[in-house]
Parts: sequence; C-alpha cells; structure tokens
Amino acid sequence: MKTQVCIIGGGPSGLMLAQLLHLKGIDNIVLERQTREYVLARIRAGVLEHGFADLMREAQCGERMDREGEIHDGFYIAHAGKMDRVDLHKYSGGNSVMVYGQTELTRDLYEARDRMGGKVYHNVEDAQPHDMKTDTPYVTCTLDGEKVRIDCDYIIGADGFHGVSRKSIPSDVLREYERVYPFGWLGILSRTKPVSPELIYAKHERGFALCSLRSQVLSRYYIQVPLTDKVEDWSDEAFWDELKRRLPAEVGARMETGPSIEKSIAPLRSFVAEPMRYGRMFLAGDAAHIVPPTGARGLNSAASDIYYLYHAMLDHYLNGDDTGLDNYSDKALARVWKAQRFSWWMTMALHKFPDNIAYDQKLQEIELEYLFSSERAQGSLAENYVGLPF
Ligand code: APR
Ligand code: PHB
Repeated sequence: MKTQVCIIGGGPSGLMLAQLLHLKGIDNIVLERQTREYVLARIRAGVLEHGFADLMREAQCGERMDREGEIHDGFYIAHAGKMDRVDLHKYSGGNSVMVYGQTELTRDLYEARDRMGGKVYHNVEDAQPHDMKTDTPYVTCTLDGEKVRIDCDYIIGADGFHGVSRKSIPSDVLREYERVYPFGWLGILSRTKPVSPELIYAKHERGFALCSLRSQVLSRYYIQVPLTDKVEDWSDEAFWDELKRRLPAEVGARMETGPSIEKSIAPLRSFVAEPMRYGRMFLAGDAAHIVPPTGARGLNSAASDIYYLYHAMLDHYLNGDDTGLDNYSDKALARVWKAQRFSWWMTMALHKFPDNIAYDQKLQEIELEYLFSSERAQGSLAENYVGLPF
C-alpha cells in the first residue's frame, strides 16, 4: 500500500488529524490496534477547551458537540468547608470550556471518517515504523493475518502512551521526563442527576474528589484512592459514602446516588518525551505526553499537537514550505510543558499527599486562600483551564 501520511493509532489524535488532512486532499491511512467497539467503550475525560472545540468544527465534526455539549463558564473549588467559584468567562477574556465526553467525540470522528470514505483499519497487529531517518519511510503491520507494507512520506505516532512509535526512537535520542503520583482516581459513571450544574473540584483532608458530568442525566464522579486499592474493594455504596464525606455537607446532602454503570481506577502520571520528531516520524498526543487528569488537559494537550502538525503538513504539501515540520517538536513541546505545569499545579494544590509534613499542608491551604483573594491568580488559573492559545 502507499499513502502520503500513515497514522498509527485511531484515538482522538489520529482520527482528528486524518479527518483534517483528508478535507484538504492529503491522502492518509489510520492503523488502529483495537476494534472500534473497544475504542468507543473507553470512558475518558469530558472537558474540551475552546480551541479543541474549534478544531472539531474545522474538521466538520462539531455538529453533535454543539447540539449536545454544554458550555461551562466556570467551576467550583470546595476547600476549607466552603465553595469558591472560578469564573472562567470573566477571567479569561470571555472564554469557556465545552463539557462533551471524549468517547462521544471519538464516535463523531469515526462517523466523519466513514462518511468521507476515510481509510481506517482496525485489529491491526504488529505495526512498526521503519526507515524514519530516510526519505522513504514505511510502516509494516499485519492486517487480517496478512503482512502489509505501507510506503509513505510521513509517519504519525498517535498511538497513545503504550504505543510502538515512541519506543521506535533510539534511546540515545529520546529523553523522557516522568512523575508518578502516589495515588489514583476511582471514577464512576451513573445515570443520576449531577449534583451541580458546574464541576466541583474538592480538596479535603480525606483526599481529593471531583464532581463532573456528561449531561444533566449522567454524572461522572471521582475520588482519590491509594494506588494499592482495587475496583473490587469499592462497592457503589462505599464510593457514594466516601464521595459525600469529601464534599461540603450541603452538597453531599443533595447528592443523588444510584448504581454505577462504569467503575475504574486510573493512576496519575505526568510524562513528556522529547523530541517529538524523529526524521520523518512525528509523535502526537498521549504517545508523547501524559498529564494527570486534574486540570482536564489530556485531550487538550493533544489538540495543539494536531493543530501544529496539520498546519505544518498543509505548508509542506500545498506551499512546499517545511518550516512548520522543522519547528514542530520545539513548538509543540513549548505548549505541552505549559499544560504539564498547569496539570501538576492543580494536582499538587488539591490532593492529599501521604508524605506531606504539616508545613506542606499549610502551604497547600494558603495556595487556595491566595487564589481566591487575588483576581490575577484566578486569571492565571482561568486562562490555563480554558486553554492557552495554540
Ligand atoms: N498499533 C496501532 N494502534 C495502536 C498501537 C499500535 N501498536 N498502540 C496503541 N494504539 C492505539 C490505541 O488502541 C488507541 O486507540 O492508539 C490509540 C491511541 O489513542 P489514545 O490513547 O486515546 O491517545 P490520543 O489519541 O493521543 O488521545 C489523547 O487525550 O484525554 C486524553 O489521555 C486521553 O487518550 C486521550 C488523549
Ligand atoms: C471528567 O469529566 O471525566 C473530568 C472532568 C474534569 C477533569 C477530569 C475529568 O479535570
């Protein structure tokens, strides 16, 4: 097979780039290891920054998002027994975020690929990039039991944290930065009315909690748990009890509870791989960087990669200009690190750290007191939460 751009990974990053390139007449193939059903059963975060929402519209995939998604102009931080609101709209110069499940967004991207006759292969085994440092790179894989070779101009590694692309960069070239946090998030999805129309991030002496939602009839809640906990350790009842304990009493009292329809534990990790380019292979999204979910940056960090890559590819194919491709890694990493900083900051400010000494705890409390006493500090939080410019 032959194509212009061979994309490894059919998550939001790979699909979004495929869709944008196809709309401009740039031929591409997406290789996805899992079935579509598997990809669409993964429950992921649900807050999109406005820049990503714009990208969805540009990719002609924004219709359902605009119909069913909710615009949020603010969120709450519960701390020291009170609830303070961060006014995103006021402090970010009129911006907001879109609450729309990443699973739904991925479904919309797949449907758009189908509509346009995009080439997306599932159940792809043993994908492997080759000759990235030459002008004739290619990808090999197994499709329906047959060995296939795909010759291309460029390879995109959009195959997530556990993908093969990053691992194909020689270890003397790749630099990895990582922080693993000493806890995870236990999350449940339930068909109940969300306790608050806006998100509540709660800092509590028993640990962090988050009240989020997918719609006004579908709630998503999380609590911080030790890494040693297993999903089986947590009955629905135990989850609801613990969640309520970590919220202001009046919020807990009006919490509607019900059976969980999904329950899982995710560890929290910060990770960046540099550079994001190796010859003719470019990394994008979770393949190159991971953030803890506290700042809702996961997909949004991927969005800027896709935006830069897309424009760099357009410049290459339509104008014969390779500056964008040459600058991609530096430019993408500059924004990636800002999203890392923000996600780290939110995580440090709101969680209970097992090794914190009394001094650290005091500083943590003062961080939030300062935040809500300073319009400038809230401005900094707001501009990061709605998304720094691409
Ligand atoms: N070959 C083909 N596909 C692969 C391979 C492989 N060797 N390894 C992984 N994949 C696929 C995965 O099955 C997955 O569907 O690549 C896809 C990567 O998708 P994601 O992990 O969703 O990563 P990305 O598309 O970058 O999405 C950005 O935003 O909210 C965050 O972390 C969240 O995943 C989300 C991310
Ligand atoms: C979610 O809805 O799953 C969600 C929202 C905000 C976050 C993390 C997760 O910061």
